[in-house]
Amino acid sequence: MATAGTSRLRLSSRTSHFVLPKQWASMRKAEALERETGKRVIHFEKGDFQGDEFYPAPHIYEAAARAVHEGHVRYVPGPGIPELRDAIADEATKRGRPTERDEVLVTMGAKHALTQSLLTMVDQGDEVIFPNPGYPPDEFWITYAGGKVVYAPLVEPDFHFDLDSLRSLITPKTKMLIINSPQRPNGMAVGHLDEIAEICLEHNVVVLTDEIFSHMVYAPSVHQTIAAVPGMADQSILVDTFSKTYIMTGFRIGWCVANRELITAMDIFQQNSVTNVPAFVQIAALAAITGPQDHVLTQTARLQAKRDKTVAALNAIDGIECLSPDGSFYVFPDIRGTGMTAQQFADHLIDSHGVGVVAGSSFGDRGEGHIRLTYACPDDVLEEGLDRIRRGVEGL
Ligand SMILES: Cc1ncc(COP(=O)(O)O)c(C=O)c1O
Repeated sequence: MATAGTSRLRLSSRTSHFVLPKQWASMRKAEALERETGKRVIHFEKGDFQGDEFYPAPHIYEAAARAVHEGHVRYVPGPGIPELRDAIADEATKRGRPTERDEVLVTMGAKHALTQSLLTMVDQGDEVIFPNPGYPPDEFWITYAGGKVVYAPLVEPDFHFDLDSLRSLITPKTKMLIINSPQRPNGMAVGHLDEIAEICLEHNVVVLTDEIFSHMVYAPSVHQTIAAVPGMADQSILVDTFSKTYIMTGFRIGWCVANRELITAMDIFQQNSVTNVPAFVQIAALAAITGPQDHVLTQTARLQAKRDKTVAALNAIDGIECLSPDGSFYVFPDIRGTGMTAQQFADHLIDSHGVGVVAGSSFGDRGEGHIRLTYACPDDVLEEGLDRIRRGVEGL
């Protein structure tokens, strides 16, 4: 760690890889600029919703408030309240992975489910195949557990896995493969799920499938889970969250579904770390998943319109090419036509035009030449930000 050695503290050697997350460098820079200069910054770099149109449905708030007033403020069972585990089991079953209550763990967000999965599965020297570009916290925990991150380059333009190259990465030490669909940072659905499953079943590789944008998939694309492929129920860990589908990022609640032996181990991990997800948060999540779903549909339609507007505006700029992602709230345009690297372009946009974006290279070297923008913000902010980017390119 950068500060190790400057004091008498003797941090664990496991912290030797600790650095502040690269993908949040733009957010730190954008916030500092705003604070220090008072300049209005457009925050396309944030991985969160912005503005009044994106809040949880009223019945979710009401359930949370009522639960607090009714006294649901004590410890509850580690793996989650039974009603919520059952509702999540139903959701996974609807996706095609028949699930029972004891195969469900309610976690502090998807991130905590990913952390616990990796710390429960990965041994010293195990290899975990990880998409490049991918989601950096996964790399962090593989390394922490003493595992080796093996990068699977995703192939442009639509960032799919190359099956031959995936096969060639597998060794006797390969324990897991991580996929996230729709993918972060590029929003594309992972294709070839049957073939990927076949490879993993043949080599006894467990697939950690991160599906946090499962309900933010735009027609004609449909969300599919590898956990539903025959044979994969026990060979996969399906992770999802309330953060995105129900706009509950600040509630910190997610879940995972896996073989009950693994869920039992993860529950022991959870009970010895966070104990349980707060009861009133679980009750709010129960209201979200069992209540009316019209907010989810309205939100998806709203995001689809913003995606289309964003893609069209970016493609109208010389030097930028943007595919239309299947889902998520990100676009990942190719900016190589500007002649700049991703980081140079991101720095240029924030320094000269007050627009925060994330350099694609923060997600792995295969993200070079791209930037990531979040379009889940009000239309006037979106339009102004896109116009600033246009001016930023024209002024080069
Ligand atoms: C791919 C991916 N997985 C997991 C998470 C974390 O989600 P949660 O808020 O449920 O912890 C994120 C957050 O944006 C993400 O992009």
